[in-house]
Amino acid sequence: MKKNSKKPAYAKLKGKDFLSVDDLSIQEIKSLFELAADMKKKPKKYSKALEGKMLALIFEKPSLRTRTTFTVGIHTLGGSSIDYPPGDNILGKRESVFDVAKNLERMVDGVMIRTFGQDVVTSFAEHASIPVINGLTDYEHPCQAMADFFTITEYKKNLKNLKISYIGDGNNVTHSLLLMGGKWGTTFCVATPPGYAARDEVVQRAKELAAKSSGSIIITNDPIEAARDADVIYTDTWTSMGQEAEAIIRRNIFKPYQVNRELFSHAKPDALFMHCLPAHRNEEVTDEIIDSPNSVVFQEAENRLHAQKAILYALMR
Ligand code: CP
Ligand code: NVA
Repeated sequence: MKKNSKKPAYAKLKGKDFLSVDDLSIQEIKSLFELAADMKKKPKKYSKALEGKMLALIFEKPSLRTRTTFTVGIHTLGGSSIDYPPGDNILGKRESVFDVAKNLERMVDGVMIRTFGQDVVTSFAEHASIPVINGLTDYEHPCQAMADFFTITEYKKNLKNLKISYIGDGNNVTHSLLLMGGKWGTTFCVATPPGYAARDEVVQRAKELAAKSSGSIIITNDPIEAARDADVIYTDTWTSMGQEAEAIIRRNIFKPYQVNRELFSHAKPDALFMHCLPAHRNEEVTDEIIDSPNSVVFQEAENRLHAQKAILYALMR
């Protein structure tokens, strides 16, 4: 019998950038999840997959998970990494983003960037001939959303039947999750305080995607409406990196959105609790919820590694 030589959907991603969840089709996402699952099960099989490849990691904000998982990820695929910490100020301060892109494309095989403006990663990617990966901007955190939905597929069967609810600040993580929810055809609900909603153009795009995937996007100010019968409850910090000056005022405004025992009791009994981390314990989530059997936050953190290894392989091989 002829061997099935059909290429996986991720094959088309070679050499491309990953700046937004919207850069990937649902077929590409699903094929990356299959690859991530295989890499998680059989890591040794891929230990030379990116042999000789060098990944630059540029951080303009702090990081534990993103730094560790990208570093471990590229090394366990046989490649190497070089790390630029926030103090190096290499993007636009010491020299222009254009000049950094034109230098690094001659020296490394891929770049991951964590910065403030989405325009910085877009402009870098425009000028560099090598793959560029968004490791978090103020606008999106696409690698996080990949790991999050990969985690959900490990626990729940048909994502189309799920109600996934994000409760808290309408931020970068919310944006990437909204786009992912729209692509998968889930019921994706976001509850934020008035004035802290996700950006309108992202909500509109998520609704367009949901219309095609038979999903739905629900936007509300009511945390109980979001929690009711949810299969997944997700929250994130009320004060993202760069917003530290607003921390005190935000702490008061967001109090009704704390994921605690009362709010979680509206969800299904087997609902998952998720958080991208770092968590501010007893602010956006209480200890009893983040430490409960429903919480999958550390599995989620580990899955950053497997999901990103799949992304690195697809883009950089
Ligand atoms: N979730 C996440 O991106 O964690 P770090 O900020 O520690 O990288
Ligand atoms: N919204 C958070 C996510 C941290 C991983 C921030 O931007 O600080």
